[in-house]
Amino acid sequence: MPLLQRSYEQTGERRNFSLSRLPYDAINSTAENRTNDRNRITLMPLNVAVQMDPIERINIRGDSTFALLLEAQARGHSLFYYTPDQLVMRDGTVSASVQPLAVRDKAGDHYTLGEARVVELSSLDVVLLRQDPPFDLAYITSTHMLERIQPKTLVVNDPAHVRNAPEKVFVTEFPDLMPPTLVTRDLAAIKKFRAEHGDIVMKPLYGKGGEAVFRLAREDLNFGSLYDLFAATFREPWVVQKFLPAVKEGDKRIILVDGEFAGAVNRVPAADDLRSNMVRGGVPKATDLSAREREICKRLGPALRERRLLFVGIDVIGGFLTEINVTSPTGIRAVKNFGGADIAALIWDKIEGQRRGA
Ligand SMILES: Nc1ncnc2c1ncn2[C@@H]1O[C@H](COP(=O)(O)OP(=O)(O)O)[C@@H](O)[C@H]1O
Ligand SMILES: [Mg+2]
Repeated sequence: MPLLQRSYEQTGERRNFSLSRLPYDAINSTAENRTNDRNRITLMPLNVAVQMDPIERINIRGDSTFALLLEAQARGHSLFYYTPDQLVMRDGTVSASVQPLAVRDKAGDHYTLGEARVVELSSLDVVLLRQDPPFDLAYITSTHMLERIQPKTLVVNDPAHVRNAPEKVFVTEFPDLMPPTLVTRDLAAIKKFRAEHGDIVMKPLYGKGGEAVFRLAREDLNFGSLYDLFAATFREPWVVQKFLPAVKEGDKRIILVDGEFAGAVNRVPAADDLRSNMVRGGVPKATDLSAREREICKRLGPALRERRLLFVGIDVIGGFLTEINVTSPTGIRAVKNFGGADIAALIWDKIEGQRRGA
């Protein structure tokens, strides 16, 4: 009996096919895969689709989605790949043209895709929502579509809660954990905040990868022009935050799996840059958690579990929480490289546990 049986209407003719008969087995049964999988094969193989950006462009050394895919494959789950552009909602039913996917931890030869087929996403056990921001209307629309296949299909992270928790807004639910922060585009309010705190940072509310993050010292004469530039560039309010001098010691990425601390990596900015993001030259370093950081994890845990935000990366500078990343957090491979936990394995343990309970 095939694991899944679906019928799909194409060019007037009804074609039956089952996901288990997609050419997945053919592409996934190399000798190498069989050996890797031997010890970890799971008793409950799942059909897993990943919604992600084009797989040919990823850098597998640091990519957390790739780490999740490797682990899923090692456990015997079947993988299917699609990009957000493949999503179709017809009268409330969501489908996508997916391709069976096999992955290998080999740069330059990291994946093989099988033949594309249209499937109803609700026929799958799990969908990993893993495309990168921008968190724009395209992103928001795909969360609306994925919401339709729940709870039949487990979507990780929960799309409705992803939509409701933009990383620099969600953090404002924990005002005592964050640095003094304004979200506004009002000139008078920003001037008042600047007079109070002196050294400030201005950054876009929906920015990523350190884009357009500026530090303004108390006496900086560029404030007025920078205000004008932000006002002309962004339709949204932006973030004005007290500058945290501790940033030179690093911006710590802490990963929580189902609300529990799972691992951390520090990111130290280059000597000539404010930004710790690795794409801006920030250097990853091994790290432990301070008492304050443990406290932050403890405080966030229940809120994350309640929202079914299974895989979350928070950012902490000098003991202050600045971001709660829920869209497509990273850090799995960096944590493991420094001898930390196998976070991909922890995440799949949770997903399998939730599917068993479904
Ligand atoms: N309040 C702040 N004080 C000091 N440095 C900051 C502050 N806010 C941001 N930064 C620096 O800028 C980087 C990017 O800012 P962040 O808020 O994490 O936005 P992004 O989403 O672009 O990563 C941080 O990693 C940190 O190095
Ligand atoms: Mg950041």
